[in-house]
Amino acid sequence: MEYNSWVPILPDQASSFAWQVDLLYFYLILVSIAFTIPIAVGIFYFAIKYRERERFATPDELHGSIVLETTWSIIPFVVSMTIFLGGAYVYFNQYTPPQDAMEIYVVGKQWMWKLQHSTGQREINELHVPVGRPIKLTMTTEDVLHDFFIPAFRTKADIVPGRYTYLWFTPTKPGKYHLFCAEYCGLNHSGMGGWVYVMEQKDFDNWLAGNTSGQTPVELGKDLFMNKLGCASCHAGGPAQRGAKLEGIYGKEVKLVGGRTVIADDNYIRNSILNPTADIVEGYQPIMPTFKGQVTDEQLNGLVAYIKSLSGVAGSSTTSTTSAPAANTASNSASSTPPSNTTTPRRADRGTNSQGSNPNAPGATRRP
Ligand code: CUA
Repeated sequence: MEYNSWVPILPDQASSFAWQVDLLYFYLILVSIAFTIPIAVGIFYFAIKYRERERFATPDELHGSIVLETTWSIIPFVVSMTIFLGGAYVYFNQYTPPQDAMEIYVVGKQWMWKLQHSTGQREINELHVPVGRPIKLTMTTEDVLHDFFIPAFRTKADIVPGRYTYLWFTPTKPGKYHLFCAEYCGLNHSGMGGWVYVMEQKDFDNWLAGNTSGQTPVELGKDLFMNKLGCASCHAGGPAQRGAKLEGIYGKEVKLVGGRTVIADDNYIRNSILNPTADIVEGYQPIMPTFKGQVTDEQLNGLVAYIKSLSGVAGSSTTSTTSAPAANTASNSASSTPPSNTTTPRRADRGTNSQGSNPNAPGATRRP
């Protein structure tokens, strides 16, 4: 992937598709030059050649030329189609994570990045990954829009409140690469950065082993599901259960009341926890209370990872740096009195996120 490094103004090419993005840019620059120079030269040439020599002269009329018009239609068509096809190829490649990618959860907040590996290790403003393996980031934010950007990998994606977005890359060169927030998100936006460390597999394994893993996302989610939130009291899957069975649901099509269907993906599971009455599964009553404001984004990631694991989808993870749900072990309280959690009260002035300003949030309700 070195062959394009004669473009010195660009950062390292350190991911499998970096050279494609650079090639596309180089092509765009080339096309711009190829059109700009003849046009600029032509302007001066014609301005001089056809300057007014005789006052009020009438020029000869021109009645069109098939050859000329066909040429200046076909050439721009071909050029713009090559840009479109090249761009579409790069785009679809970048936004279609491979199935076997190693999954890492990212939570953005003003103004830091919280990351968690599926084996439980947590990082802040740093991401360690092995070289040569596709890495998929499942990303969300606690407050406002952010954007995860690694210039050397030539990829970035917005992180949007209330949903998951994804980013993937295969690092090709061991090293240390800058990581930025690329969406203005408030006072310290410019400081919301960090480093990605790309390591040889054995160094990565060492790094992983040297870090306490704590609860894995699946374990966190299972604990919440079984005990702390009491989800199991309705969703355990028995015949008399009030809630839909969740085993094997991930990635499948779900029939909803009203005849619609949805695919049970990460965003569907997340929405069903925060906004349960939006998509009622056929055959069930809209009795589930919302958990909005009562679970952190890290806990949501854990629940999603756990529900995925029920379908045998491996390798999900969460990003809890604040994995401190209240010690409410009053299990099985039929989730109409869901436990509070003890995360730091959110700052009311933080942003526009529904959770941040939710009057039902534990932090808010405790205010006098
Ligand atoms: Cu986060 Cu800018």
